[in-house]
Amino acid sequence: MKKISEEKGRKKVYEGKAKILYLYGGDESKLVTYFKDDATAFNGQKKGTIEQKGEFNNAISSSLFKLLKSKGIKSHFIEKLSEREMLVHHLKMFPVEFVVRNYTAGSLAKKMGVEEGVKLLSPVVELYYKSDELGDPMINETYLKAFDLGEPKDVEEAKKIAVNINEILKDFFDKNGLLLVDYKLEFGILNGNVLLADEITPDTMRLWDKVTLEKVDKDRFRRDLGGVEEAYKRVYDITSKI
Ligand code: ADP
Ligand code: TMP
Ligand code: ASP
Repeated sequence: MKKISEEKGRKKVYEGKAKILYLYGGDESKLVTYFKDDATAFNGQKKGTIEQKGEFNNAISSSLFKLLKSKGIKSHFIEKLSEREMLVHHLKMFPVEFVVRNYTAGSLAKKMGVEEGVKLLSPVVELYYKSDELGDPMINETYLKAFDLGEPKDVEEAKKIAVNINEILKDFFDKNGLLLVDYKLEFGILNGNVLLADEITPDTMRLWDKVTLEKVDKDRFRRDLGGVEEAYKRVYDITSKI
C-alpha cells in the first residue's frame, strides 16, 4: 500500500527501522517523519510488526514534544501533519544516543549484575555511538573530538537537556500512574542551536505501571510478553490528554 507521503509525491531521503524521512516540498530545511508499524530489537536482529504503532508513536511523540515545549525545551517538532506524519526541522544529527536512567533495567542491570527495578541514587546518563553494525557501542566524551562525532560543548549541552527532560517526563508519567525507568533521546544542530529530535515513544522509553510494575513499552515486544498493542494504546491514551 502506498504511504501517504508517497501519494503526496514527497521525496524519500532515508528509511530507518521505525521511520521514513521525506523532504517537505522542495524545501530541504524541513522533513516529514513517517512513523511505521515495523518493530525491531537488538539492532535489527529481531523483526516484527506492532499494529497501529506508527499512529500511536506519532501521536505520543507529538504530545510529548508539545509538553516539553511548554516547559522551555526546544525540539525539532513543528506540527503533526497526519496520523502517521510529523513535520520537523531538518537537523544535523549527532550520531549519538543519549540514554538516561532512573531505575536499573535492560543493559544496565546486566552490566552491573543487579536485578531490574532498583532505584538509582541519582540518574545515570550514557552515550552510545549510533551504529547498528557495531551494536551501538557505549562511548564517552573523549570520543567526540577523537572521532569527529560532534562539538564536545554541544554534546555537553544535549546531555544537560536530556537530564532536564527527566524531571518533566518523570513527573508527567508519575501523575499518570507510570514509572519512567529509562529512555533514549537524540539531538541535532540547527543554526548553531542544540535541539531535541527524533521521537519519544514506548519504543525509546521504559515505562512500568507504578503499582503492578507491569511493562508498558517495547520490552513487551523485545521479550515476547504479549499485550504489545495494548501497552502502546495505554501510553497513547495518557499522552492524548496533554
Ligand atoms: P534508525 O535510523 O535508527 O533505524 P528510525 O527508523 O527512527 O531509526 O529513523 C529515523 C532517523 O531520522 C534516525 O536515524 C534519526 O537519527 C533521524 N532523525 C530524527 N530526527 C531528525 C531530524 N530532525 N533531522 C534529521 N534527521 C533526524
Ligand atoms: P538498554 O537497557 O537496552 O540499554 O536501553 C535503554 C533505553 O534506551 C531503553 O528505554 C530503550 C532505549 N533504547 C533505544 O531507544 N534504542 C536502542 O537501540 C536501545 C538499545 C535502547
Ligand atoms: N533500536 C533497536 C533496534 O535497532 C531497537 C530496540 O531495542 O529498541 O532494533
